[in-house]
Amino acid sequence: MGSMSENTKSLYADFNGSAPLNKKVKEFLLERMATGTFSNPNSSHALGKKIMFAIEKSRRSLAKNINAKANQIIFNSGASEGITQVFHSVLADKPQDGRDIIVTTGIEHSCVVKCCAYYEKRGYRIIQVSSMQSGLIDIEELKNIVDKNHEQIAFVTIMAANNETGVIQPLKEITSICHQHSLKVFSDTTQFIGKTKFDFQDSNLDFAVMSSHKIGAIIGSGALIAKDINDLKPLIMGGGQEKGLRGGTQNYIGIESMAVALQDFQDSLHLLDQVAVEREQFEQRMQKKFPQIKIIGQEAPRLASTTMLSHPEFDGQLVQQKLEDKKIYVTTSSACSDDEKEISKVLKSMGTDEQTARGVVRISFCCHVTKECYQHIENALCDIFQKN
Ligand SMILES: Cc1ncc(COP(=O)(O)O)c(C=O)c1O
Repeated sequence: MGSMSENTKSLYADFNGSAPLNKKVKEFLLERMATGTFSNPNSSHALGKKIMFAIEKSRRSLAKNINAKANQIIFNSGASEGITQVFHSVLADKPQDGRDIIVTTGIEHSCVVKCCAYYEKRGYRIIQVSSMQSGLIDIEELKNIVDKNHEQIAFVTIMAANNETGVIQPLKEITSICHQHSLKVFSDTTQFIGKTKFDFQDSNLDFAVMSSHKIGAIIGSGALIAKDINDLKPLIMGGGQEKGLRGGTQNYIGIESMAVALQDFQDSLHLLDQVAVEREQFEQRMQKKFPQIKIIGQEAPRLASTTMLSHPEFDGQLVQQKLEDKKIYVTTSSACSDDEKEISKVLKSMGTDEQTARGVVRISFCCHVTKECYQHIENALCDIFQKN
């Protein structure tokens, strides 16, 4: 599956915002809609049981592909819900047992930022670990913060792969530092799962999340993965679904499609190295032609198919518009903040200078991106940067 539409010659390059339906998912859904059973999975009749069987099969498949146990997965509506449930489960309406610190970073998605702000109003203190220019967090600083404050820390939340830059944090180092003091660690893995290899057990995270629409499944589904589901409290009350941890009839079509999408990613893992090469070559060619161009996070490990590129002499929103005139769809930073004139808080936190930050465009694909996609976007960008 490429991202370039042959008929219209349009190119969708905003997979980190939301990925189009994966080809296998599309095939699955067409068949599923035409022939499938529709029923309440929690009903005791045969049709309900059939749907519940499909849900559990999907749970086992997802678990296998992220090396978790099936009973560690709770289905929900997406990553925002999962993130909010983690905060709701670990924190209380006011700090308990003298644990009033939330350790986080300046590069989190707005969902984590807003959850932190919600609990800050209820008496928690926020400590942000600094990010370096590379986009990686300062791991020494994290260690010092944890060593010094571990008796007051309620919870640590550090994202896995950044939605804007694609920079990947060293999850195992993070969990190892925090677990020395038995602290619970959550990582926003929304952009990580289905974009690079994820091993829940090996990461040693206490909580992780995933989202269907980031991986080419149908929008509206997600999962919360917990090392011990006894640590979770329900955010949505209901009829006891998902072991009483997430009320509401399960979105079984979404769940099934998520399992198909993740399976396709797993079957395509071998493509990732080549995708990284194509991405790297595209970036190098652009920098050779325009030496002013900066690639954000270039020195750090990054998702194979994400590029955040800035030509500091061009306004990113203008470049986005000019690309759109050529039917190429990118964003300036995260989709949610597209309308805000403010520069990205992620880039601010990394210490990116303002001019560079104003110039950024984010180009994001999946593991099926082709050389032609990069060539097409390169031609368009060169045209824009040369003409103006
Ligand atoms: C890093 C990250 N976390 C969380 C979310 C929220 O995901 P969802 O749309 O599934 O609620 C997103 C999506 O923009 C994201 O990129």
